Amino acid sequence: MGSIVLFGPPGAGKGTQAQRIMEHTGLPQVSTGDMLRAAVKAGTQVGLEAKRYMDEGALVPDEVILALIEERIQEPDAVDGVMFDGFPRTVPQAEALSELADISHVLAIEVPDERIVERICGRLTCGTCGTVFHDTFNPVPADGCSCGQFEEKRRVDDNEETVLNRLDAYHRQTSPLAAWYLERGLFHRVDGDRDIAAITADLLALLE
Ligand code: AP5
Repeated sequence: MGSIVLFGPPGAGKGTQAQRIMEHTGLPQVSTGDMLRAAVKAGTQVGLEAKRYMDEGALVPDEVILALIEERIQEPDAVDGVMFDGFPRTVPQAEALSELADISHVLAIEVPDERIVERICGRLTCGTCGTVFHDTFNPVPADGCSCGQFEEKRRVDDNEETVLNRLDAYHRQTSPLAAWYLERGLFHRVDGDRDIAAITADLLALLE
């Protein structure tokens, strides 16, 4: 198996499924959203530039993203492939990626727009270990997160106005990638409007 791309609209469950698939494949999760948030937090030049796009729900310029990816996939844990989460998001990003890595599967998690706002506005993560939860659909267990040190964290861009902009960016700039990967025989869809475990089972079956 080469590298995997997890594809889908904001809030589709890419991060949730990446954590589960990682346990089975051992491929490290490479989330451009997480990398950008780390850069914003660290106050780096990349973080300062990315923040204004992220706060509006717009895509960060391709060259910024590609510089991050090129550096990340040089790291030793990426030698046998990675699981890209939230990347690529434009056709130029996909074209550049095809020169950098061998992609074996693009797994699209399909969720209708009307589900997205409720998913994103109810999201919380454990600040200690990064596990993703939802107020209603995937609550933090009564005895806390499995890491034992639950710390509630919510994203600044998880508000209704920004989500609508993120969805718009997805439809205009990212969804054309489906046809691009279909032409290359790499694209597989799963219905993401179901129970989290049922979606994981379908994704793992596609990888077998
Ligand atoms: P990024 O961090 O990638 O955000 P996103 O794509 O908007 O995706 P999310 O992280 O919001 O959702 P997800 O699909 O991972 O869902 P999750 O599993 O958390 O990007 C943020 C910003 O960074 C972008 O707006 C852009 O500015 C910039 N950026 C990042 N990458 C870029 C790139 N390549 N190019 C340019 N700009 C880039 O689930 C969501 C919620 O739903 C959770 O609460 C979860 O518990 C719940 N949930 C999950 N599955 C289910 C289910 N089956 N049923 C019910 N609830 C569920």
